[in-house]
Amino acid sequence: MLLNLVLSVVSCLIQETFSKYLPNNSCKNYIDYYFINTSKNCYHNGEFFEQTTEIIEKHIGFSETYNVTTEDGYILTIFRIPKQRPRGIVILQHPVTTDSIVWVGQSNESLAFLLWNFGYDIWLPNHRGTYFSRKHVNLTISDEEYWDFSFHEIGLYDYKAIIDFVKNKTGRKIVFISHSMSTTASLIYSSLRPKEAEASVQVFISMSPVSYLKHVRSPVKYLAPFTPFLKMINTLLHITHLQEYDSPLMQTMRLLMLELPFKYLANMMISLFQGWNPREFDPAFINLSISHHPRSYPWKIFYHYVQQYLSGGRFQMYDYGPKINKELYGSLIPPEYPVEEIIAPTYLVYSKHDSLATSEDAELLYSKLNEKAKIYGKLEIENINHVDFHYGKHRKEKVFHEIIKLLEFIEPNF
Ligand SMILES: *[C@@H]1O[C@H](CO)[C@@H](O)[C@H](O)[C@H]1NC(C)=O
Ligand SMILES: *[C@@H]1O[C@H](CO)[C@@H](O)[C@H](O)[C@H]1NC(C)=O
Ligand SMILES: *[C@@H]1O[C@H](CO)[C@@H](O)[C@H](O)[C@H]1NC(C)=O
Ligand SMILES: *[C@@H]1O[C@H](CO)[C@@H](O)[C@H](O)[C@H]1NC(C)=O
Ligand SMILES: *[C@@H]1O[C@H](CO)[C@@H](O)[C@H](O)[C@H]1NC(C)=O
Ligand SMILES: *[C@@H]1O[C@H](CO)[C@@H](O)[C@H](O)[C@H]1NC(C)=O
Ligand SMILES: *[C@@H]1O[C@H](CO)[C@@H](O)[C@H](O)[C@H]1NC(C)=O
Repeated sequence: MLLNLVLSVVSCLIQETFSKYLPNNSCKNYIDYYFINTSKNCYHNGEFFEQTTEIIEKHIGFSETYNVTTEDGYILTIFRIPKQRPRGIVILQHPVTTDSIVWVGQSNESLAFLLWNFGYDIWLPNHRGTYFSRKHVNLTISDEEYWDFSFHEIGLYDYKAIIDFVKNKTGRKIVFISHSMSTTASLIYSSLRPKEAEASVQVFISMSPVSYLKHVRSPVKYLAPFTPFLKMINTLLHITHLQEYDSPLMQTMRLLMLELPFKYLANMMISLFQGWNPREFDPAFINLSISHHPRSYPWKIFYHYVQQYLSGGRFQMYDYGPKINKELYGSLIPPEYPVEEIIAPTYLVYSKHDSLATSEDAELLYSKLNEKAKIYGKLEIENINHVDFHYGKHRKEKVFHEIIKLLEFIEPNF
């Protein structure tokens, strides 16, 4: 209690000092970070610690905010950058450890702004449990029950509520763009609610799709066998989720990370776990992305992925143990998600250099999809790892421009 108080006072003071008095906080190259106060390659980025709507205000000047309630009572906040007479409607659905900030967190080079400038009405939801979506009709975030969800519930309930709401507001079909965990949840939505998905979504664009975890190369896989131990400790200590973005502990850790002089080393660590490609992460975003992350999520998401990995890569529902599985699913082992049921067009974008969502696993998913889902095909790219989809130097040419090409191609079919 006292420690928390001290930590919050200290981190508030440091944060205030940083955002007001330190002129330079970003550099074009890693080496420049050592000379941040003198190098001409360093500059001040005013978006440190800022949130989605503040950043949108800076670049676009206006935004809208909506709250929607899911069937199971979670109240979600959705931001919007509205467009008059739009070419189309886009939902940008964020992955885990982050929230809508990830789509606007690269200054004027963010995907949300690129697509808005291209003529799209942009919707930026925040899934349950993240900084802006922490309300529930009956529960609070201090209730353990609040955090009892995985990507299963995010797909089945959050995405249903979000997609229905946006469809209703705009009266148009939606382009649903996701990355990493949000691709997992969107496959769950579109396989368990195939007709609804087809009626509301024009195309699911899934970057780094995560479903069959058979070919994971990232060394993170070596942590999987230790998960029961982690789970035991978490259960004992009643730890249900990664601490909140604004918790004193996270604020302090973030500030320590920002002060790390070895920015290139930080980048190498990211590379080690996401796909070896340290030269790709744009140095200009390393401090900035630290200032925006991480956002909280329940450990159950992590356990669920580990279960899938340890099951030999089955894309299966949560494993509660044989007894509860039998009651819940009617079988001792959890059933797999029926991806062959998906009839809404699903476009996969995956990279050879992504060691988490590998090309092999993406192709395995593709091979199981229904022909109707595959009408736009798939795209394999190179030299981009898992996080480079957001922070890589070449993400615009390799990913964003390809998405725009696809949108231009499908537009006449609106
Ligand atoms: C950004 O990183 C540099 C060097 O690693 C550090 O000295 C600086 O304080 C950081 N900027 C902010 C605003 O924290
Ligand atoms: C840059 O200047 C700030 C404040 O003037 C100082 O705290 C910081 O240590 C300096 N950083 C470097 C890398 O010289
Ligand atoms: C900040 O960056 C500019 C160049 O963008 C540089 O001239 C200046 O010396 C840097 N340091 C400070 C403290 O402003
Ligand atoms: C949405 O809910 C939040 C609380 O979670 C509230 O502060 C905000 O005013 C609500 N916004 C709208 C537009 O209803
Ligand atoms: C909230 O609580 C009320 C009263 O106990 C109950 O009827 C309702 O089903 C609950 N709603 C959800 C979503 O849990
Ligand atoms: C973003 O801003 C930078 C610096 O002001 C500028 O050099 C760059 O061209 C801008 N990019 C876009 C896509 O507007
Ligand atoms: C949205 O929902 C309301 C009420 O549920 C309904 O009256 C309205 O027609 C719907 N709008 C669209 C565009 O579907």
